[in-house]
Amino acid sequence: MQLLDGKFVSEKLKQEIAAEAAGVLATKGRKPHLVAILVGNDGGSETYVASKMKNCEKVGFKSSLHRYDNSVTEEELLAKIEEINRDEDVDGLIVQLPLPKHIDPEKVTEKIDYKKDVDGFHPVNLGRMMRNLPCFIPATPYGIMMMLEEYKIETSGKHCVVVGRSNIVGSPMSILMARNAYPGNCTVTLTHSRTKDLKNVVASADIIVAAIGKKNFVTADMVKPGAVIIDVGINREVSETTKSGYKLYGDVDFDNVSEKASWITPVPGGVGLMTIVGLLKNTLASAKKEIY
Ligand code: GUN
Repeated sequence: MQLLDGKFVSEKLKQEIAAEAAGVLATKGRKPHLVAILVGNDGGSETYVASKMKNCEKVGFKSSLHRYDNSVTEEELLAKIEEINRDEDVDGLIVQLPLPKHIDPEKVTEKIDYKKDVDGFHPVNLGRMMRNLPCFIPATPYGIMMMLEEYKIETSGKHCVVVGRSNIVGSPMSILMARNAYPGNCTVTLTHSRTKDLKNVVASADIIVAAIGKKNFVTADMVKPGAVIIDVGINREVSETTKSGYKLYGDVDFDNVSEKASWITPVPGGVGLMTIVGLLKNTLASAKKEIY
C-alpha cells in the first residue's frame, strides 16, 4: 500500500498558489479575496471555515468572514449575498452548509453570482461541468482530481465506484470520473442507500470513492486487492485523548483496507486538505478571470 498524502500534495500546491497570488497582487494591486458566510455555531462548520480562512492568509489571499446567528432570516442572508455579489473587491463567496431549517439552501446557492461561486454549487457551474466547459468545480471533487493527477493514478477504463450521491461530493465526482479527460475516462457506478448488493458492487471497483459519512463503512471484504481508495469521510467523535477534544474517522476501515489497497488516502491528512486547495484554486482562478 502507498499513501496518497494530502499533507504533502496540499503543501506543494499551496506554494504554487502563493506564488500566483503574489502575481495577482503585483498586477492588480490587490490580493485574491474570499468571503465566507457562516450561520450558527455547528462545531464542524466552525472548524472548516476557520481552516479555510487560515489557509487564505497562508497563501497571501484576503479573507473575510460574515457570521450570523441561527435566527437570521432568509431575506437578510439573501440581501447580504446580493451586496457581496456587487462588491468588485470580492473574487469568491461561499456560504458554509448546512444552514438552519428555515433557510432554503437552494435559494441561497442560486443567489450567489455564479462568477463568484468558488464552491461550484451553482446550477450554472454544475451544468457547465457536465458539458466539460470552463467552470468552478466543487472543491472536494476538484481536490481529489488533483491528488489523482499528482500521483499519476491510472484511471482510463477503470471501474470507479462512488459511494454516496451528495450534491457536494458523490454526484459531481461521478461526473468528473466519467469525463473524457485525465483523470477520468472511468466506467462509473454511483451507489447510494437504495443500491442492491452494495458490497459486491464495491468489491468490483478498481477505484473506490467513499463519501457516505459513516465511520468504517467500507470494510476489507468489500475491497478488491490492488484497488485505489479515496476516503472522503470526516466523521467526528468526541475523544479525551486529543487536544481538540475530537477524533476524526474516515468512511473506510483504514487499518484493514490498507492491507489490500494499492493506494489509499488517510483521514486526517488526505482529502480534507485537498478540499482547501480546490477552494483556493477556484478563488485564484476567479481573481485572474480565468473562467468568467
Ligand atoms: N459543507 C460541507 N462541505 C462544504 C463545502 O465544501 N462548502 C460549503 N460551503 N459548505 C460545506
